[in-house]
Amino acid sequence: MKMNRTGVTQLLQQVAIEDSQIPCIKMQEFNAWFDKNQVLKDINLQFNLHQINCIIGPSGSGKSTLLRSINRINDDITSFKHQGEILLKGINVLADHDVTAIRKQLGMVFQKPCVFPNSIRENILFGLQFDNTYSLQQRQTIMEDKLKAVALWNEVQQRLNSPATDLSLGQQQRLCIARTLAVNPQVLLLDEPTSSLDPVSSRAIEDLMLQLKDRYTIIFVTHNILQAKRIADRLIFMCDGQVIEQGNKEQLFNNPAKQQTWDYLNNEYCNC
Ligand SMILES: Nc1ncnc2c1ncn2[C@@H]1O[C@H](COP(=O)(O)OP(=O)(O)O)[C@@H](O)[C@H]1O
Ligand SMILES: [Mg+2]
Repeated sequence: MKMNRTGVTQLLQQVAIEDSQIPCIKMQEFNAWFDKNQVLKDINLQFNLHQINCIIGPSGSGKSTLLRSINRINDDITSFKHQGEILLKGINVLADHDVTAIRKQLGMVFQKPCVFPNSIRENILFGLQFDNTYSLQQRQTIMEDKLKAVALWNEVQQRLNSPATDLSLGQQQRLCIARTLAVNPQVLLLDEPTSSLDPVSSRAIEDLMLQLKDRYTIIFVTHNILQAKRIADRLIFMCDGQVIEQGNKEQLFNNPAKQQTWDYLNNEYCNC
């Protein structure tokens, strides 16, 4: 679907979050390379609303590249090339669109909490700072709502003007998720968001995902098999740039179709 840059912004605004008839994200025959090194091979996947889709697989299997292709962060790398389609509610996000409009729909959270050296308030409202359509009161409401959504409000409401860097790592990661939610995305892309956190903070993020899936499509990369077992609805097992197997969590854990899936889920062993 080809359209001009203004067109995509309007179209994306019209896409109803509740419309679960269309897969929220669909990747079709997607291939990607860094120079001549093919790192994603014939990826066909779909991600639906109200689901936590966990992508697991050994290091170097292409999980981050896949996630970063969806919100087009890889565009900034000159050696990156791709073929195929990634559809957000039927709109090809890889076409010549306004990338900022696309990225607003596809919020990303990284492995290490990445707070800016500003106040908690400025961090939350970062994505809205150049948007004059929000009044001061609306900004306040968004800030409070999103901090409550990530269960951080009670901990920080008395110190909204304090530096975000003073928060613990677990709190910082929840702040990053709140900042992502503040621009009202449809999809949350999380790349090993708990790997630098202690077990208690990790569990808090997992609980948060279980609550947020009511409103978002969640794509959650983890190398932690037990974490995937706790939170996934759907599981995608990747190895060497390919999707080896995908399906419901129960199916992959209890009755996988491929020996490689069984080996990885039970022994963290992979011979792809
Ligand atoms: N910026 C880059 N330039 C060149 N190669 C890259 C770049 N980023 C990732 N790769 C390569 O792409 C492959 C997949 O990496 P990645 O997506 O990070 O895997 P994972 O997240 O599963 O560990 C690896 O071989 C990695 O070396
Ligand atoms: Mg990675």
